Amino acid sequence: MPGFIEGMMPVQLLAEILLIIVIFVLGAMILDKKMGIRIPMLLQAALVFIAGWWYYKFRIEPPLPFSVRAIYQVMIAIGIFMWVSSAEKGWTEFKRPILAVLDAKTPLTWWVRAVLLVVLPLSASGMAYKNLLPSLGEPIELRTVHPAPPAAVTVHGKKFPLQTSESPVRVDESGEYSNHIQDAHVMDNPFDPDSIQYMQNVKEGGDIFFQNCHFCHGDNLNGRGLYAYAFNPIPANFTDPGTLAQLQETFVFWRVAKGGPGLPREGFPWASAMPPWEQHLTTEEIWKVILFEYWHTKYPPRTWDE
Ligand code: HEC
Repeated sequence: MPGFIEGMMPVQLLAEILLIIVIFVLGAMILDKKMGIRIPMLLQAALVFIAGWWYYKFRIEPPLPFSVRAIYQVMIAIGIFMWVSSAEKGWTEFKRPILAVLDAKTPLTWWVRAVLLVVLPLSASGMAYKNLLPSLGEPIELRTVHPAPPAAVTVHGKKFPLQTSESPVRVDESGEYSNHIQDAHVMDNPFDPDSIQYMQNVKEGGDIFFQNCHFCHGDNLNGRGLYAYAFNPIPANFTDPGTLAQLQETFVFWRVAKGGPGLPREGFPWASAMPPWEQHLTTEEIWKVILFEYWHTKYPPRTWDE
């Protein structure tokens, strides 16, 4: 609102509304007394109604929501009816054009009625159509791609605290949990027992990936699967440093096990198509497919103690 001083709003509102009323009354008086033009009651009522709509819609900052303006318009309409029906003379005058159109005794009113009979249902159906049309716009709320995970997840009846759980397929030969199992020197080395076991798990994880995940996450794990573009949000691109590389392994475990339905509220607005895989895979299969994803993208798994 130009020239609007904050904190003055109610005063300004009152002043402007008063000004509009004065303009209306003076204008009508001048037209009537000086020029002999009397604005018909119905038109006056319509002008007041439209002026109210215009004022609430364009002059008030911050903008009022439609529901609030609708309430104000109903009150304006009630006010207008009280005013036009306050004297018998005004009421008769107000009704006259409406009744004339309804009766349609002259060619003009006949035509007005005919046009109204076409235009009114058409605009009503147009409005209904517009309201029912699904909107394809994105929701206003932002989606948190990596919301805070729960403290623990229960998968196949077993509870996994995310802070302390470890991938059972990432232990070395002695059964020790190893962050270095994926280091280059143990990878795909046919003479190193750790490496043989590791590659076996990776291979099994790969089978699981290509049976279940590549439709969405793509054969290159880049999120460009066959069905990827049918979804919003699109499937995660694991080669992007923004996903696997910066996620805790147990976070990924939670996401794979619980999928889109397991996301907390802030992860929701565009419902994720990611399936809850605990319904189709065993716990070990989930860990293996995760191992495969880290192996394929060459990102070292992040763990909590790092
Ligand atoms: C129907 C399509 C679909 C399939 C099949 C699918 N995903 Fe997803 N996945 C998604 C979508 C969409 C997202 C992104 C939205 C989200 O985070 O939930 C996602 C996100 C993820 C994430 C989270 C990544 C991040 O950065 O938070 C992981 C991990 C994941 N998927 C793993 C898998 C694994 C493993 C499989 C196979 C067992 C799989 N997905 C199969 C659609 C799918």
